[in-house]
Amino acid sequence: MVMDKAFLENRLKDIFCRFHAHPELSYKEYETTAQIREILTGDGIEILPYELETGLVAIVRGEKEGPVRALRCDIDALPIEETADVPYRSKITGVMHACGHDMHITVGLGCAMLLNECKADLKGSVKIIFQPAEESSLGALKILETDVMKDVDRIWGIHADPVNEAGTIAIREGYVTAAVDRFVITIKGVGCHGAHPDDGIDPIVTAAAMIQSLQTITSRNVNAFLPSLLSVTRVSAGTTWNVIPDKAVMEGTVRTMDKNDRILYEKRLKEIAVNTAGAYGAEAEVEWIAGPPATYNDRSMSETCAKKAVEMGLKTAVEESSLGGDDFAFYEDKIPGCYIKIGTGIGHPIHHPGFMVDTGMLYTAAEFMAELLKVV
Ligand code: NI
Repeated sequence: MVMDKAFLENRLKDIFCRFHAHPELSYKEYETTAQIREILTGDGIEILPYELETGLVAIVRGEKEGPVRALRCDIDALPIEETADVPYRSKITGVMHACGHDMHITVGLGCAMLLNECKADLKGSVKIIFQPAEESSLGALKILETDVMKDVDRIWGIHADPVNEAGTIAIREGYVTAAVDRFVITIKGVGCHGAHPDDGIDPIVTAAAMIQSLQTITSRNVNAFLPSLLSVTRVSAGTTWNVIPDKAVMEGTVRTMDKNDRILYEKRLKEIAVNTAGAYGAEAEVEWIAGPPATYNDRSMSETCAKKAVEMGLKTAVEESSLGGDDFAFYEDKIPGCYIKIGTGIGHPIHHPGFMVDTGMLYTAAEFMAELLKVV
């Protein structure tokens, strides 16, 4: 690398602290986008002319022939009040970068700077996607509305990893995050006096039976060798103690790794809801809101990543898979992808108010991603 390492190390720390102190929520990343734009422009890095409300796509065009590949860095923060005692703690009340997306931005910028330095030797081009609203599960779709992916043949994603020491590259071939679906079930009964249930149809008793039965999809219907789950996370009914209400509403989430399981969950959830309601004389309406599919790490990309990490003398680990989700999976509907976790130092988990990134990993991660993106 031509660029002075110590200089870039310090610069990336400054950049990280600035983004960390000024977090913005999903779809509201206006200042974040402006800052990313300013840094890239200052470094002479090209920004593609997409009309995105927030987020942007940078491109480093190599002077040698080769394919186009991409790196996805998400940029949004969470509605959490930060508790970490650091000089660069969030200046925005109730908002913090608790998922490490400030690190993702910084690494994306550092990677762009390093690649820009060696454009003369770079084969093909690299697009760096600064994506809004990952926490909404749907921000990737904003990027995919543009034609950014039209010539990209593979995409890399990174995520902060507080279960590993700073700079550790964690990788696993296959499924690493789950498909994220949401459901809302409305049970219609007949309201009556709490002392005269015989005059009505109780939607709360119906809901209780339904919640129990829904758990049998996981235990009785889907392949036990494949991870999946269903959680009912909100139940709402009634207004007072002596009235049986006429309606109950519940919602929750289904997480699956396998495509067939995902289809089966939707089918069985609807059957159980409608038929359980019927068994109690009530009616059920089911709304199924599909989110991103499962994230799948391409075999050859996983191998390339592991090889590169070893070559660079970095510590490696087996990536933990999770029934959490990431909208990175939407890109993989189109092309092969690989979602890597990079150690941010062992500490509080992501989405915790005390989550913190060891800034010593920033340069290492940027250099690693730049080297990985040079591979054609
Ligand atoms: Ni995240």
